[in-house]
Amino acid sequence: MSQNKKSIVSIVMGSQSDYKTMKLSAKVLKSLKIRHEVKIVSAHRTPKRLYEFAKNAKKNKISVIIAGAGGSAHLPGMIASLTSLPVIGVPIESKKLKGLDSLLSIAQMPKGIPVGTVAIGEDGATNAALLAASIIAIGNKDVRNRLNSLRDKQTRSVKKKPR
Ligand code: RP5
Repeated sequence: MSQNKKSIVSIVMGSQSDYKTMKLSAKVLKSLKIRHEVKIVSAHRTPKRLYEFAKNAKKNKISVIIAGAGGSAHLPGMIASLTSLPVIGVPIESKKLKGLDSLLSIAQMPKGIPVGTVAIGEDGATNAALLAASIIAIGNKDVRNRLNSLRDKQTRSVKKKPR
C-alpha cells in the first residue's frame, strides 16, 4: 500500500527492524477498512526523506500519522515539528533498555509540539491504529460504525467467570 496518494493514515517507522511491531498497526487499519500506507523514514539516516514526507503529508491527503521508532526515537517528534497533523508515536522495544528509552523520548516532548504516545511494542502499535481510527471516525460514519462493532465484539468476548 505504499505510495498510495489516497491514503488517509500513514504508518512510518525508523527501520525495517521496526516492521515486525508496526505491521500490527497496518493489520488493525486493514480490518477497519481504513486506507493506509507504510513507509520507512529515518530521522537520522534519511533526514531529507523525513522532511519531504512531513512537509507533503497534508497535500498527500494524510489525516493521521503513526510513527514507530526505537532508541532515542526522535522520528515522531521531528515529524510533528513539520506538520500540524496528529502524530501518534509508537515506542519500539529496544534491545538494551526494552523500549524505556523509546517511550521517554516520544512521551517527553517539550510543550508546543505534541506527540500522542502509546504503550511500548505491539500493544502500542495496535492501540495507535485504534486511536487513529477514533480520530478518523469523528468525520467518517462508516469507520465509526466499524470501530464500534469491533469494540462490541471485544466486550462480548470477555466471559463473566473464569474457567
Ligand atoms: C531506530 O533505531 C529505529 O526506529 C529502530 O527501532 C532502531 C534500530 O534500528 P536498526 O539498527 O535495527 O536499523 O532508528
